[in-house]
Amino acid sequence: MEKLKSDEILVSTKAIGVNPMDWKIRNGSMQKVFPPLHFPITPGLDVSGIVEKVGVDVTSIKVGDAVTSFVDSYNEPYSEKVITKEKWSSIFDRTNNSFVVAAAIPVTGLTAYEILFRVLKIEYDQRILIQGGASAVGIFTLQMAKLAVAHVSVTASSNHNKLLYDLGADKVFDYHNENFFQNVIKFDAVIDLVGGKTLERSYPLVKRGGVAVTTNGVPNMNAEKNTI
Ligand SMILES: NC(=O)c1ccc[n+]([C@@H]2O[C@H](COP(=O)([O-])OP(=O)(O)OC[C@H]3O[C@@H](n4cnc5c(N)ncnc54)[C@H](OP(=O)(O)O)[C@@H]3O)[C@@H](O)[C@H]2O)c1
Repeated sequence: MEKLKSDEILVSTKAIGVNPMDWKIRNGSMQKVFPPLHFPITPGLDVSGIVEKVGVDVTSIKVGDAVTSFVDSYNEPYSEKVITKEKWSSIFDRTNNSFVVAAAIPVTGLTAYEILFRVLKIEYDQRILIQGGASAVGIFTLQMAKLAVAHVSVTASSNHNKLLYDLGADKVFDYHNENFFQNVIKFDAVIDLVGGKTLERSYPLVKRGGVAVTTNGVPNMNAEKNTI
């Protein structure tokens, strides 16, 4: 267990994050996405804790650091001690942040990062709509998009208004109001975190040449024809 490869670190676990991905792996619905697992496995993907050992090539993390890390499912993240990689780990200041909060970040935060910076390649001043802005992935996507200096609108239930405006939203639309999107200026990108009808309703909100991204289902490749 404690024999590390050169790019790995050994973490003494303080908190774990529980994600929908855990039960999706367990029920087999991620088989086409991830390489085969060899059962039995201990599930989990997110962990925070104190670094106990580092591999010989690790340079940015040292013994005693507080880290939060994405752990691949082969390394049994829901354990007292976890081996993970330097490149999947971030140091945090434990005087201002709890281990519990830190353990909630990796999968949701990385999903938001992937959407904005790898898929969309978000640019300064773009107009973005996040469908499902109050979801776990949504609040990370909102904050990162604001850091990229985009103009960000979100859809959510109105009880989340204060939270979402505090996190930087320029406009919060209540999706329970069926007409919320009438008369809006079209968006450079719509990020759908809900799926189904919400995804279908997202296409007409994208301006010509813009992009629709979803975490839920397969996009309709003919939707461009409906975009004006
Ligand atoms: N969580 C993860 O670790 C993770 C990782 C990768 C991908 N994903 C994907 O990311 C998406 C979001 O997952 P999540 O776990 O972040 O969700 P979540 O925290 O469970 O939040 C779901 C939210 O969806 C909102 N919602 C429901 N119907 C809506 C509608 N018609 N319009 C706008 N918002 C609506 C609800 O918002 P209100 O409370 O405002 O009504 C609810 O807060 C899913 O597609 C999931 O598969 C999640």
